[in-house]
Amino acid sequence: MSSKQQVLKALNRKAGEFISGQAIAEEIGKSRVSVRKAVLSLMEDGFEIDIEQSRGYRLNAGTKHLTREYLSLFLPSDLKLFYYDEIGSTNTEAKNKLLSGEKPPFLIVAKKQVAGRGRMGRSFLSDEGGLYFSLILSNDRYRDASLVTTHAAVSVCKVLEKVSGESLGIKWVNDIYYKGKKLAGILTEGIVDLELGLVSDVIIGVGINYERKVLDESISEIATSLFIQKAAPVSASQVIGLIVDEIQNSFDSSYIEEYRKRCIVLNRPVFVLKNNQTYPAFALDVDDDAHLIVRYEDGRIEALNSGEVSLRF
Ligand code: BTN
Repeated sequence: MSSKQQVLKALNRKAGEFISGQAIAEEIGKSRVSVRKAVLSLMEDGFEIDIEQSRGYRLNAGTKHLTREYLSLFLPSDLKLFYYDEIGSTNTEAKNKLLSGEKPPFLIVAKKQVAGRGRMGRSFLSDEGGLYFSLILSNDRYRDASLVTTHAAVSVCKVLEKVSGESLGIKWVNDIYYKGKKLAGILTEGIVDLELGLVSDVIIGVGINYERKVLDESISEIATSLFIQKAAPVSASQVIGLIVDEIQNSFDSSYIEEYRKRCIVLNRPVFVLKNNQTYPAFALDVDDDAHLIVRYEDGRIEALNSGEVSLRF
């Protein structure tokens, strides 16, 4: 950990309170001069830090920053982090890294994407203010691709609900909704080991409209942010850390019940989109493999494991 990170960690632990330069210096085993240098450099990065001669340093408790140093405070030490101010797509970068031999687990985070990708070959608008990251895991625990995606959706919901105190919904498979509009999307991709015929690694790409004053006009009718009117109480960096922790450590069979509770299409008339055709149906249930069970108008029942549904009013 660099001195800057160590200083940030000490400041963050006491966020909102003053801590003396001497106390930080003793804690991290460096001189007061290097503490001061690190503080000035953090301020140059945009961190709001008050300096008072007699009391020391105070990090603004509501700090919202997303920076490499700050982010790494909230991540497990064995998770390699790749951080970019701007990138094409974190999912595409993840594939490139896997192909060039990088071993999971690792995390790719970007402040902004210029070629963000969504499901079904769509693009995903990824301006500053959102959270864009891909978590790459080796596939040693998911027996079915639908489980990766749906477990990630529950994990994202749980963390955002905790942070905001709001209730969120999931539109099967993995669109996260807030007050009737899309708040977050997840694009899960797998690397197939052709010899074994198995998905060896999974890329879980998450895009969240976290804190944004104004959404692009092209999407404001259908998309929303978690914090539009008020400032986010928890930093973007910490939220990513919490989601990563939830995805990595909360996978057990009970999550599917959490998924059902939030699934906004259940017991509703829907349209199933398949091969560019839409079929009216009724959404009956989500089974233990996260497949959506639908009944078509001719009475036929199908368990969907991919594709898309929309609500029918
Ligand atoms: C969707 O809603 O269709 C899925 C959107 C997924 C967007 C995320 S942002 C981080 C990661 N990188 C991408 O290019 N896409 C995913």
